[in-house]
Amino acid sequence: MRAANALFLVSAALFVTGVGLVIAGARERGKAQPVATTAAVAITPVASVKQIMAGITMPAANEVWSAVSTIVDAEGIHETVPRTDDEWAAVGSSAAALVESANLLMVEGRAVDNGDWTKFAKQLFDTSTRALKGAENKNTQEILAAGEVINESCDNCHARYMRN
Ligand code: HEC
Repeated sequence: MRAANALFLVSAALFVTGVGLVIAGARERGKAQPVATTAAVAITPVASVKQIMAGITMPAANEVWSAVSTIVDAEGIHETVPRTDDEWAAVGSSAAALVESANLLMVEGRAVDNGDWTKFAKQLFDTSTRALKGAENKNTQEILAAGEVINESCDNCHARYMRN
């Protein structure tokens, strides 16, 4: 009887230890999982909207707008279009910077609201994505057309949110 009791106690103790180890293992996995499966890192907005406009949005938009253009002056008509792979890649990079500046405007902590602000930022995102695809396809007409609607997205947001 005693021996049986003692055996029972030992096996009960082993069982409890085993359960403990399983729980500890599960906890460890629980801790490790978010790091392993979640790519998102908390982003802290640092730049003001004004700095993003002046440092990223405006320079990038200027590159897209001037990539395909016709200038008429006293010396005649000057057509500008990207010609080499490098020139097309540069247009694509500027369009990509413009897309990302739209993302920066929508980041939590910087987005002014979830209504019109986000709508206009999304408009900038969509129109500059169109320019990016145009650059990838080396399509001058698309760059021109995208340039127009990009401009509308800037104007829409400024009309509603710019104070000066
Ligand atoms: C979602 C809203 C939004 C969109 C879209 C937007 N802007 Fe702005 N922009 C603002 C606001 C708000 C300001 C005023 C910031 C301030 O003065 O604090 C501003 C200011 C500016 C300024 C003045 C910066 C300075 O140094 O005073 C420029 C230049 C500018 N935007 C260019 C653009 C261009 C070009 C586009 C489109 C390609 C664009 N913005 C799209 C919201 C937007």
